[in-house]
Amino acid sequence: MSSAARDASPAGDKPAFLRIDDVVKDFGGGAIAVNHVSIDIAQGEIFALLGSSGCGKTTLLRILAGFETPTSGRVLLEGRDIGGLAPYERPFNMMFQSYALFPHLTVWDNIAFGLKRDGMPAAEIGERVGAMLKLVQLERYAKRKPHQLSGGQQQRVALARSLAKRPQMLLLDEPLGALDKKLREQTQLELVNIIEEVGVTCVMVTHDQEEAMTMATRIAVMSEGKVLQIGAPGDVYETPATRFVADFIGNVNLMEGSVEVDEPDHAVVRCTDCTHYVGHGITGTLGMAVGVAVRPEKISLQAAEPAGAHEPHNKVKGRIKELSYFGSFTVYHLELQSGAVLKISESNVARHRESALTWGDTAWASWPPTAQVVLTQ
Ligand SMILES: Nc1ncnc2c1ncn2[C@@H]1O[C@H](COP(=O)(O)OP(=O)(O)O)[C@@H](O)[C@H]1O
Ligand SMILES: [Mg+2]
Repeated sequence: MSSAARDASPAGDKPAFLRIDDVVKDFGGGAIAVNHVSIDIAQGEIFALLGSSGCGKTTLLRILAGFETPTSGRVLLEGRDIGGLAPYERPFNMMFQSYALFPHLTVWDNIAFGLKRDGMPAAEIGERVGAMLKLVQLERYAKRKPHQLSGGQQQRVALARSLAKRPQMLLLDEPLGALDKKLREQTQLELVNIIEEVGVTCVMVTHDQEEAMTMATRIAVMSEGKVLQIGAPGDVYETPATRFVADFIGNVNLMEGSVEVDEPDHAVVRCTDCTHYVGHGITGTLGMAVGVAVRPEKISLQAAEPAGAHEPHNKVKGRIKELSYFGSFTVYHLELQSGAVLKISESNVARHRESALTWGDTAWASWPPTAQVVLTQ
């Protein structure tokens, strides 16, 4: 999670660079595509709209670009309502999901295309295209046609084409959707480096949570047209606000239970297979139904019953039902008494682990009182 440290929440006193103010888009016919969305984006941010297919990401991006008119709500750029501006009047560039380069044009001409159309003097175009080629490290490929490039290189040409006009804001719709997994991961970091070097503010759309976590300074998690949570990648991962977000971002064990103790400094939640000692208060009511989320990497697994500081809480016995080896880590599926399965991920630091646990073994899972997130929504 390289980006977790790059905190770029908009400064409190400065007006947001881009303000999405209570935007609604209703196409009619039932579901509302964008449902009262408000987001402030700071200058220089790489902001990700994250959610599964159909949740309204592209519609919101198209509203920003001016290709779609909101049913209600406003879009403000540096405090100025840009609702009345046509797409070409906005200092934005949108790179579409299928960024189709012109196949008959060279890389150089693809990048120069929009500048020529704008009537920029030839010398200036030459300079600008040269700088863009350098930026995306494709200087040696200027005379090639798109089909003579790899997928990742084509993607970089598309990016150079989008940046050539020096937009104040770059809008990316699933920018890496056309690339396979390995290439996508590599290109994510290249893309971030280029965007940061240019300093352009960026709103990107993706359904891939790893992509959002890797690339974005902040993420808005969307579902059914609504924003469920906005935060830095680390915040959204470590303190999800709802069951949906906990489940959507990364792997999680989600247990349902009720609040048994609720003090200012700790709480106890009883679930079917175990009880949780949580190291903070919940400020709910006793007996209240809550969800408890625990990430697999925050749980440890051992053969003997652990003697914890919070007996008899935060541990559970089970039988290892599945074991998947991923190289750098192993995921265990521990079947509990109720039949529920607890996922536990252990990093493989040592090459051979002593007393390695395996299929069918009885084992104990345990976790610290900081591992849980208690969810009321
Ligand atoms: N032009 C349109 N007319 C009617 N409905 C649309 C139109 N564009 C999108 N929608 C609907 O709005 C919802 C959100 O779509 P979209 O923004 O494309 O989602 P996403 O990009 O998150 O996959 C979907 O239910 C989609 O069918
Ligand atoms: Mg889309």
